[in-house]
Amino acid sequence: MDIEIRPEAKGDYTEVGTVNDLAFGQPGEGAMVEALRYNPRFIRGLSLVACVDGLVVGHILFFPVDIETPGERVESLSLAPLAVLPEYQNMGIGGKLIEAGVEAARCMGFASVIVMGHPGYYSRFGFKPASQWCIRPPMEAPEEAFMALELARGSLKGKAGTVVYPREYDAAL
Ligand SMILES: CC(C)(COP(=O)(O)OP(=O)(O)OC[C@H]1O[C@@H](n2cnc3c(N)ncnc32)[C@H](O)[C@@H]1OP(=O)(O)O)[C@@H](O)C(=O)NCCC(=O)NCCS
Repeated sequence: MDIEIRPEAKGDYTEVGTVNDLAFGQPGEGAMVEALRYNPRFIRGLSLVACVDGLVVGHILFFPVDIETPGERVESLSLAPLAVLPEYQNMGIGGKLIEAGVEAARCMGFASVIVMGHPGYYSRFGFKPASQWCIRPPMEAPEEAFMALELARGSLKGKAGTVVYPREYDAAL
């Protein structure tokens, strides 16, 4: 099976919404992605799709967020959402989207990525509990589920603080 990973194009928006709604089993996810596209911090090259035979079967979004530290706001990226159509799961598509997105973010000069999710899954890609750097979520969350990845060695050292998400994420958090 040939899997193509590429930045999303305008013509993908409807399919991306469907992939998110079906993967999460609720209609709000697609609408959240659509709302985030109107946020000025949205970066087109960090919203990627996975295609099989020309069909969008997976999507990942990396969205700029800030780590609010006592002295400064440190820019990071939130990995969310990540979605693969149920019938295409467990084929490595989610992993390919993560790897391609992390590489794109690194090339753009971002220093780190934050994710809230399944520790057993994201640890495969190098994510570690954010508590290791004293980086906290803005809401109650299991410690092991809130994770971070340095895109450059030591980039999170001394960046202890609380992550501030755009309000569009509120429905999902
Ligand atoms: C999570 C998700 C994106 C993974 O995509 P995928 O393409 O199926 O994942 P991959 O094929 O890259 O990896 C599959 C592996 O991850 C594991 N995995 C999948 N979901 C997992 C989870 N919730 N917790 C732990 N491991 C998980 C699978 O068991 C499989 O393990 P194996 O390689 O040992 O067989 C997909 O299952 C999905 O869209 N789920 C619904 C939406 C969701 O939960 N998104 C993530 C929010 S944090």
